[in-house]
Amino acid sequence: MATATVKAEGNVKAEGKRQKAETPSGFDVMKVRADFPILSERVHGKPLVYLDSANTSQKPTSVLQAMDDYYRHANANIHRATHLLSERATALYEGGRAKAARFLNAPDPRTIVLTKGTTDGINLVAQSYGRSTLKPGDEILLSWLEHHSNIVPWQLVAGQTGAAITVVPINDLGEIDQDQYAKLLSPRTKIVAIGHVSNALGTINPIKEMIAQARTHGAVVLIDGAQAAPHLPIDVQALDCDFYVLSSHKMFGPTGTGVLYGRKKLLEAMPPYQGGGDMISSVTFEKTLYNQVPYKFEAGTPNIAGVVGLGAAVDYLSTIDRAAALVHEDAVLGYATEQVRAIPGARIIGEARHKTGVLSFMLEGVHPHDAGTILDQQGVAVRTGQHCAQPVMDRYCIPATIRASLGIYNTREDIDALVRGLHKVREVFA
Ligand code: ALA
Repeated sequence: MATATVKAEGNVKAEGKRQKAETPSGFDVMKVRADFPILSERVHGKPLVYLDSANTSQKPTSVLQAMDDYYRHANANIHRATHLLSERATALYEGGRAKAARFLNAPDPRTIVLTKGTTDGINLVAQSYGRSTLKPGDEILLSWLEHHSNIVPWQLVAGQTGAAITVVPINDLGEIDQDQYAKLLSPRTKIVAIGHVSNALGTINPIKEMIAQARTHGAVVLIDGAQAAPHLPIDVQALDCDFYVLSSHKMFGPTGTGVLYGRKKLLEAMPPYQGGGDMISSVTFEKTLYNQVPYKFEAGTPNIAGVVGLGAAVDYLSTIDRAAALVHEDAVLGYATEQVRAIPGARIIGEARHKTGVLSFMLEGVHPHDAGTILDQQGVAVRTGQHCAQPVMDRYCIPATIRASLGIYNTREDIDALVRGLHKVREVFA
């Protein structure tokens, strides 16, 4: 689990009502659940049990309200007009950037580029930093745990520049092999791109140590923080990474918005990623001068409402005792692991010593997609498949897994519903 191992508490029986505080930390999960209106939804006539937060998280009322208020009271384009609505919209958009900077403990809001999401952030770094600096013989070091978003953009830029991709293997637990990592780092390594938390297995990688090692070889390090942001505190200054990317929609904000933190010197030296309005300071047919960072990387009218929602999500998280939330989530994950492990024929994939938020598993004799369909009929939403991480599946020689992924709002009762659903799956396939 993420903190020093939190022992799962005993099986708390539902007895018609949910517990108030589920962990010794006193984290009030029922109060948190009340913030998320969709959790009262029924699906197929059953109460929704949402265990797919690694795919996308649900949104609290305050985020929905902030976006609604923006469209009702401030909707206008940013940075482009002198009227009051434009001033309001600009202040809200730049407020979202400042909140994102605070969330990551970035040294300056100007180190925060607002993107469409993690994938967009990685493509930006690959096509701007990577394409302008990589040469034949250079290496981009990835791990076997990566999401396709942290593989394919690097393959594209490797093809364009003649750089090579090297891949650090993982062990049977689903942890990056640190000895191999140390061996693969060399003066040829120009970029290291590693996930903070694996979306497929939940492994928390020791990124602080990995960043420090990479930097001794002069490599630039990008961290894919999409799965870490909803669970772990992030401090880009303490991590000393060069780039850190995340998606708003995984951390209780809206889709279509994300954050790229970049070291200021690197951002300033990088060429623009896309051309268009707002990223320029002057345009003639002879020569265009680009805007300062971060605007140089924000061509076109951005997702203003999305950034407002992202800011509201950061505000929402700042009202939560995140250390207590993590203790709660770890306890629910520990409970889920025990309960699923006890099901005959269940095989857990990924048992890293440090994990958060994700339980991936298989059921003997059942294709994960069939399990997912039957679970859905019971009101239980999980993701089944390769989870955009085909190399992870290949590593274990499996086609797919069933993945239950947690948010701060999940309870042991959600896990009990999952386990009941899995017994139903077994009955159907008996
Ligand atoms: N990255 C998302 C997931 O893991 C799509 O489900």
